[in-house]
Order: sequence, then C-alpha cells, then structure tokens
Amino acid sequence: MVAAVRVHKTGGPEVLTFEDVAIPAPGQGQIKIKQYACGVNFIDCYFRNGSYPAPFIAGNESAGEVIAVGPGMTDLKVGDRVAYVGPLGGYAAERVFAADRAVKLPDNISYEQAAGMMLKGMTVQYLVNRTYKVGKGTICLIHAAAGGVGLIACQWANYLGATVIGTVGSKDKAALAKKNGAHHTILYRDEDFVAKVKEITSGKLCDVVYDGIGKDTFPASLDCLHPLGYFVSFGSASGQIEAFNINILQTKGSLFATRPTLNHYAAKRTDLVDTANDLFNVVGSGAVKIPVNQTYALKDAAKSHQDLESRHTTGSSILIP
Ligand SMILES: NC(=O)c1ccc[n+]([C@@H]2O[C@H](COP(=O)([O-])OP(=O)(O)OC[C@H]3O[C@@H](n4cnc5c(N)ncnc54)[C@H](OP(=O)(O)O)[C@@H]3O)[C@@H](O)[C@H]2O)c1
Repeated sequence: MVAAVRVHKTGGPEVLTFEDVAIPAPGQGQIKIKQYACGVNFIDCYFRNGSYPAPFIAGNESAGEVIAVGPGMTDLKVGDRVAYVGPLGGYAAERVFAADRAVKLPDNISYEQAAGMMLKGMTVQYLVNRTYKVGKGTICLIHAAAGGVGLIACQWANYLGATVIGTVGSKDKAALAKKNGAHHTILYRDEDFVAKVKEITSGKLCDVVYDGIGKDTFPASLDCLHPLGYFVSFGSASGQIEAFNINILQTKGSLFATRPTLNHYAAKRTDLVDTANDLFNVVGSGAVKIPVNQTYALKDAAKSHQDLESRHTTGSSILIP
C-alpha cells in the first residue's frame, strides 16, 4: 500500500482525502513510478469540484523513478528518471502509468522542477510557439502573470523578443511578474486593464492575449487586441466564459479566437517529446526558470488547493509524497 490523495465525492478542497491505496504491477506498455514530487495545477481543482465522476486519485502531473516495467518494455528501464502529464492519479507515492506518455528527465532537471513545470511549461511552449507564434516585436497580454503558467509565460515570451504586459492581483505579484520578464504590469482588480493596455501600447493594442481567467476577463480581453489579433482562451480560473455570439469577433476587429489544450497539442508521441525537449532546453539554458514557490507534504493537498483557489500562490506548487 502507498500514500495517495483520493476524491470519494466531488466538492471543495476538504474532499481531498489522504489514505493508503494498492498499486498494481505494471501491465503491457506500462511502468510503475516511485513519485518524488507531484505538481498542483488549476485543472486539479476543476476535476476535484465535479468535472469528473468520483472516486479518483487527484493530480495530473508528477516526476519520479521507474521501479518496475511491464512485459515487452524496451524504451524505459528500472532506475530511469521520468516525468509526465497525464490522466488522474498523480497525487500518490507510486503509480502505474503508460510508458508512451512519460518522458525521460535530463539530469539537470530535478524532480521538484519537473513536477512544477511539465503541465505548465509544456502549455506555455505550445501557446507561445504554436497557438500564436510569439517573436521579436510581438505585443502580448498575459493574464495572471504571477501564477504558475503566468511566470513561465512571461519569461518565455520575453525570451522570444515580445513586449510582455501582465495582469496581476496585487503589488507583490506585479513585482514578481516584472522580475520574471513582464515589461509592464496592470493591477486588474483595481485598474481598467483595457484602458491601461491602450495607454501602454500608445493605442496600438496587442497581437495576442493569453487568457487563463475566463469569465471575469471576457469580453474585455477582446478589446485589448488590434484587428486580426488572437484571443487565446486557455483556462477559466474565474469560471467558464458564457456562450457568446460569434459576430463579436467581427465587430471587434475580425479577431481570431481559440480554446486550446495541451491534450491535443501533445497527443502524438512526437509532439509530446518535442514539446518536453524544448521546455528542457529553455530551462536547462537558464532562459526560463521554474519558480516552485509553494511546497506541501502530500497529506496537505487540500491546503494547496485552498491556497491556489484563493489566489494566495505565485508560480508553481508541488506536493512531496
Ligand atoms: N489549456 C491548457 O492546456 C492549460 C494547461 C495548464 C493550465 N491551464 C490553465 O491555466 C490557468 C493557470 O493555471 P495555473 O495552474 O498556473 O494557476 P495559477 O495561474 O497559478 O492560479 C490562478 C491565478 O488566476 C488568478 N485568478 C483570477 N481570478 C481568479 C479567481 N476567481 N479564482 C482564482 N484565481 C483567479 C489569480 O492570480 P491573480 O491574483 O494575479 O489574479 C490566481 O493566482 C488556469 O486557468 C488553468 O486551467 C490551461
């Protein structure tokens, strides 16, 4: 038996239950991983509060060592260091996992870094390179710039040559976002972020808005874009955007809008490996750092969710089994 955090009925952070579970031996194409660090992500809150029927072990991202391999395995062996983003089951001391969805960790990436970056960092990789290709001269708005995805996105967009404008919930978060690549910050709880974007860009507006907030920043995010700009809605920390008339994209400037998810961008094994390697390269070179700013014991998973949902965290959060 190993320690894990299960959800028996969906609800608030209190439904995260720390208990022992039995982990089976790995089957064909599977590995068993002894997990040293598990990532905490906003998506874990969506699952916990009812997106999926309970029961399940929470968590979608972890890093650890292969301790057993199923029959027919050639790529991975016992002792390999691996990390993954994948189906529920991440908040546990051990788990069985599909080998073709795991990636080998380079020696210069620690388990803690990996748990803090596989989901968030691979998401930023596709957002700034594939959903909208950020480059020299791009003006981008990144909402929740001091969050897990946000701090990585600010650094990566800056590294690619963009002018980065970040919205944040407090002055401390503004200072942190600036330290991590944001050129300008907007306190969107107090300031009209559309007016501030107009002021900062001298009326030029943005090429792309990366919006993981959802309900509270829509449709205002569209007003931050110049004609033919890209609205990238990649999350809904404040709640889902309600149904809207698609003509709004025409009236606000023939805008493009997309609602991407890593699942599709890394669905093919080659895309998963390329995305992960690109992330390992920017982190390995020091161009992008992974601020793991909250570390909890696995048994304190509920506290990690409370902190994340009450906007008390910055950067990445991890659980240590
Ligand atoms: N599509 C994908 O492939 C993908 C993958 C990973 C993550 N995501 C999405 O990316 C977003 C960020 O995820 P994360 O794990 O890095 O979380 P996070 O940004 O560290 O935390 C969420 C942040 O959102 C802001 N926020 C604004 N309104 C909020 C509200 N009503 N409740 C809670 N927070 C609110 C807060 O920052 P301030 O205090 O600064 O406002 C908070 O710190 C989420 O929407 C997540 O679902 C999408």
